[in-house]
Amino acid sequence: MAHRWTNNLTHEEITPEPLFMNRRQLIAGAAAGAAVAGLSTRADAQEALEPNPWEDITQYNNFYEFGTGKTDPAAYAGALTTDPWTVTIDGLVEKPGEYSFKDIMAEMTVEERIYRFRCVEAWSMVIPWNGFELADLLEMAGAQPEGKFVRFETLYRPEEMVGQKYRTIDWPYVEGLRMDEALHPLTIMATGIYGKTIPNQNGAPMRLVVPWKYGFKSIKSIVRITVTDEEPVNTWQDLQASEYGFYANVNPEVDHPRWSQATERKVGGGLFSKRVPTLMFNGYEEEVASLYEGMDLRKYY
Ligand code: MTE
Repeated sequence: MAHRWTNNLTHEEITPEPLFMNRRQLIAGAAAGAAVAGLSTRADAQEALEPNPWEDITQYNNFYEFGTGKTDPAAYAGALTTDPWTVTIDGLVEKPGEYSFKDIMAEMTVEERIYRFRCVEAWSMVIPWNGFELADLLEMAGAQPEGKFVRFETLYRPEEMVGQKYRTIDWPYVEGLRMDEALHPLTIMATGIYGKTIPNQNGAPMRLVVPWKYGFKSIKSIVRITVTDEEPVNTWQDLQASEYGFYANVNPEVDHPRWSQATERKVGGGLFSKRVPTLMFNGYEEEVASLYEGMDLRKYY
């Protein structure tokens, strides 16, 4: 049964208890990060998790299917038909098939998650997503234990996605996660922002959000999810493997070959916007560092 975010209920009534706990943890995590970076107080850290306004989140986007400019998605994504929508779930699952988005939503529990979002281009926002845990969807399809990875694909429909008329990318856009990353409770499928249906430019009707990884991992408008025993080659790795890897964990110590990842520009700061230090795993170190124990994060970038 899905509990939906509806406008006649207040935040306190609808946000499940574990989420408040989660948000407190995130705030605590931010405070720890701020202390390390030599910033001041816990209040600053809370400030840092104030969500960006709707306008920033929906008018400054990366969605190459609609063009490479930051305002192209808002300008052109209105042409995308998102209803009806089906998602093929296949590979190493007990119940492969074509699932309608409506049927998926009837089974999932939608919650609000306020997450930091850090693009590999070194800008960031804070986004109040609504969505469900990817783990629940994988469980619904009966993901099998031999499945070590999950591969995701975006829609290919050049009639509605103007950017797909150009070979900027070898369409469709593809992403992948290791199974333990996919099952992590922070990993969600987002279906809303600020309690409203997710706008097309943000990846309607359903997009991945993995808050400790660079934004390109958070693939939009998903039509296929494949459980596999092979590490998927993701789109950016395919385009430029020396610059973009499979893991793409936010890491201030591992620079992009062409720019530093030590700091980020907070979108929406206006004229006085200043760069702030980037946090290890985007501030989710406490929750996810154990997934990468013993791994060389320079090698597996
Ligand atoms: N998914 C698809 N299908 N196509 C894209 O071009 N861009 C990625 C990611 N998901 C992209 C995508 C990048 S680089 C980022 S930073 C985020 O989407 C941006 O998400 P937002 O526009 O909701 O902020």
